[in-house]
Amino acid sequence: MVASRTPAYLILAEASLELVPPGLRGHPSVVSNAKRQGRDPERSLLDSSFHHRAMRPLEEAERRGRPDIVHFCALLALGSRISQAGRLRLFIHTRDDVVIAIEPATRLPRVYDRFKGLMEQVLIEGVVPKDERLLVVEDGGLKELFERLAPSRTVLLSSSGKRTALSRLFPQKKKLDGTAVAVGAFPFGEFHKATVALCGEPVSIADGTLEAWSVVGEVLSRMAHVEGLK
Ligand SMILES: C[S@@+](CC[C@H](N)C(=O)[O-])C[C@H]1O[C@@H](n2cnc3c(N)ncnc32)[C@H](O)[C@@H]1O
Repeated sequence: MVASRTPAYLILAEASLELVPPGLRGHPSVVSNAKRQGRDPERSLLDSSFHHRAMRPLEEAERRGRPDIVHFCALLALGSRISQAGRLRLFIHTRDDVVIAIEPATRLPRVYDRFKGLMEQVLIEGVVPKDERLLVVEDGGLKELFERLAPSRTVLLSSSGKRTALSRLFPQKKKLDGTAVAVGAFPFGEFHKATVALCGEPVSIADGTLEAWSVVGEVLSRMAHVEGLK
C-alpha cells in the first residue's frame, strides 16, 4: 500500500470576512442594503462597498468588510494545479479567529453575491451543505488549527518581511509536505501579534505591496513547479 502524502496548507489569514457587527445592524445604510438584497441585517456580511458610512466608528475599519479578497483568493486556490492534484488544503481564518476548512472539490460560486450568501450561511450554520460538509467552521481558532495540522514549516507572507526570492523560499529540492503558507486576506495594515507569534517572522516575495490574490497566484504556481506538476 502506498502511504498518502501530507498536503501543503494555504491559510487566508485574518480575512476581512465577518457578519455585520451587532452595533451596526440598525444603521440606515445597513438596513436599506439588506432590504434591497432580501436579507436580514444580522445575516448579512459586512461589505465596505455598501456599509462604508456605517463602518466609520469601527476599530480597524480600513481593513474590514472585504469579502471580495477571500472570494478572489479562494477561487484562485481551488482552481490551481496544486489543489487539483490533491496537494493543497485551503483554510479561511477570519479576523475574529474563526477557521473555515474548504474541501478541495468545492465549486465556489463565481458570482460575488452568491459567494457572499454562501459565506453568510457558513458563518451562521457552521456547515454547508449539511450532508457533504464542503465548508466547515472548525473548532477553535488559528492556534488550534496549527495544533491539529502540526505543519512541518510555516511561511507568513508580508511586504514588510525579509525580502526573499520565491525560488529560495520554496527550493526545488525541498518537499512541500505539511508546509503551511499564510497570506493576509485584508487590504491594509500588518498582521496582528497573535498571528506572527504562531507563524513566525514574515517574509516578502516582491518589492512593494501586492494584492493578496497576486501573492496566492505566484506562490501556488511556484509550489506546483516544486511538486513537479507539468
Ligand atoms: C494588500 S496586502 C496587505 C497589506 C500589508 N501591509 C502588506 O503589504 O503585506 C495583502 C497580503 O498580501 C501579501 N503580500 C502583499 N505584498 C507582499 C509582498 N511583497 N511579499 C509577500 N507578501 C505580500 C501579504 O500576505 C499581505 O498580508
